[in-house]
Amino acid sequence: MDASLQQIVDEAAAALATATESASLANAKARFLGKDGLVTQRMKGLGKLTPQERSVAGRELNEAKQAIEGLVTARELELEQLELNARLAQEAVDVTLPGRGYGTGGLHPITQTIERIEAIFGSIGFDVADGPEIEEDFYNFTALNTPENHPARSMHDTFYVDARDANGHDLLLRTHTSPMQIRYARMHKPPIKVIAPGKTYRVDSDATHSPMFHQFEGLWVDENISFTDLKSVYTDFLRQFFETDELDVRFRPSYFPFTEPSAEIDMRFHVGPLAGRWLEVSGSGQVHPNVIRNIGLDPERYIGFAFGSGVERLAMLRYGVGDLRLFYENDLRFLAQFNR
Ligand code: DAH
Repeated sequence: MDASLQQIVDEAAAALATATESASLANAKARFLGKDGLVTQRMKGLGKLTPQERSVAGRELNEAKQAIEGLVTARELELEQLELNARLAQEAVDVTLPGRGYGTGGLHPITQTIERIEAIFGSIGFDVADGPEIEEDFYNFTALNTPENHPARSMHDTFYVDARDANGHDLLLRTHTSPMQIRYARMHKPPIKVIAPGKTYRVDSDATHSPMFHQFEGLWVDENISFTDLKSVYTDFLRQFFETDELDVRFRPSYFPFTEPSAEIDMRFHVGPLAGRWLEVSGSGQVHPNVIRNIGLDPERYIGFAFGSGVERLAMLRYGVGDLRLFYENDLRFLAQFNR
């Protein structure tokens, strides 16, 4: 091969060897074999030669071209292999690492508390009922002996819904679970023993009040029951709920329109950080004769006891949570503690 041609092939070999990725390889290839490449230029010059010279030079040029093409292909394969190796090294899976596992979901502490309350009351024969959060004014107030213009309505600053139901009833977000007393008792015959947990709403917001919170209503209607029965049932409930017999319960006179007499239920731990302090945990009372009538029963024959307790309140006491809002901020560092 012509010495200058051999030099071109050597140059190409050197240039290709320094190409480290496909772009520089393509550049190097173009420098020799491209439209204006060194080999191509020489090909164009063939026309000026005599036929004899042309056949020798043409063959040599072809050899040179094929040699360079061979070098390009070889380098291409080499680079592919290098790239593959680099990627394999980078994407290596260490099969000896422990698996990451899937996070398991957990129940919200308020849901857990409600389930706990349901289980305890269920074990002593109470049914569990569920009712609407958008409630009729009638069930939330009127049927509970709280007629329009009754001053006790202002104890429940509430959210009215700017619409009426199909029957033209005023609607509101229920301020307590007490409407479930009426709904349930109208559909069941005595003896009635039911709790109705669920969401309730009031215009209220601070460390111990949230505009949305949870209550559970209890209703017990039968012929020969007394306050003593209510007290023993509720005391038993608290002792099971807090897993200790070392607590006292007292009924403190109070007022609710739908009970007469009415009482606040207070409890007191014997031990622990809250020991010795009376803590209010529930409203309660003997169901007012008007309410007994509103559910279609004879107040001369049937006696009812009711209570309405705050779920968050009990959860806070059980777990030692100081700020109610923690339950609703969805901070997993808080919530995960209830799911170990
Ligand atoms: N509904 C009352 C409230 O949210 C609590 C209450 C008091 C419920 C006395 C009752 C009861 O069933 O008998 O403030």
